[in-house]
Amino acid sequence: MPPWVEVRDFGSPEWNAERARACCEALESNQILFFRQPPFVVEGCDFLTAQRSLDSAVHKNVSYRPASAAMRGFSGDPKTAAEMRRILALYSARAVECVQKLLLPYAAKLRLDYASFRGLEEAGRNLPLHKRNDLLHVDAFPSRPTRGGRILRFFTNIHPSKTRVWITTERFPELARRFAGEAGLKQVAAARARRKFGHLLHVFGLPVPDRSAYDEFMLRFHDWLKENTRFQSECAKDKIEFPPMSTWLVFTDGVPHAVLSGQYALEQTFIIPREALVTPQQAPIGVLEEIAGMQLAG
Ligand code: SIN
Ligand code: FE
Repeated sequence: MPPWVEVRDFGSPEWNAERARACCEALESNQILFFRQPPFVVEGCDFLTAQRSLDSAVHKNVSYRPASAAMRGFSGDPKTAAEMRRILALYSARAVECVQKLLLPYAAKLRLDYASFRGLEEAGRNLPLHKRNDLLHVDAFPSRPTRGGRILRFFTNIHPSKTRVWITTERFPELARRFAGEAGLKQVAAARARRKFGHLLHVFGLPVPDRSAYDEFMLRFHDWLKENTRFQSECAKDKIEFPPMSTWLVFTDGVPHAVLSGQYALEQTFIIPREALVTPQQAPIGVLEEIAGMQLAG
């Protein structure tokens, strides 16, 4: 069985709302949607993959915020930075245009998050434990609570010859049913229900993101999985090799993943609110609320 669902007819006259819905269903059941070639022209690949000599200027990933057109994480010369920003803005705009047709049920409600250029070789990166990308985890953003919205990522491997190598394991519903108790779901839910000061801290302008119990748990679960050496070594693993120029979409809150090697990828993140999902009961928020027996998104 291939590790992904390949999209073949996007852009053909046969493409229609029913197929778009089937793509959403595949993603929401935690499958990976895969294109052998990008579904649009990705500009600037030669420029980006020539950034080899600028390793010291690429701090981590370079991020691009479509809402403000701001770029972070790159300290090269202004001309190079301007070109990188232009390329990221183009990738972002085209990914949005593509997602609005490919995943039509989300079109009116999706929220655009950051884009990124992942310019460093992933193998052998020396990162602190919770930031390591080579350990299996589900994504959660400390600074951007989603309140149950799902994290959708749109990747293209722009390396001219090297695959980008991921591993995955069982999906979030299985992991949550097995480990949510151990990882502290009940305690997080109870603590959030007691905490009345979240809003107050906001009033005083303190930088405390007003996280729901859901967001608190997802952050905790991200860390818990990375800290759990037994889980990391013993869990069943599927290796996935994304070929050069392939493109894939995945809900990274539902598909535990780790990147073992690869260099030069472009990525755009979307937040899909709960009310836009076609099968919300399958989303991590639905799964966790069922386990906890209470609402967690408030
Ligand atoms: C991650 O989200 O953990 C990294 C994925 C990648 O860069 O391929
Ligand atoms: Fe991740």
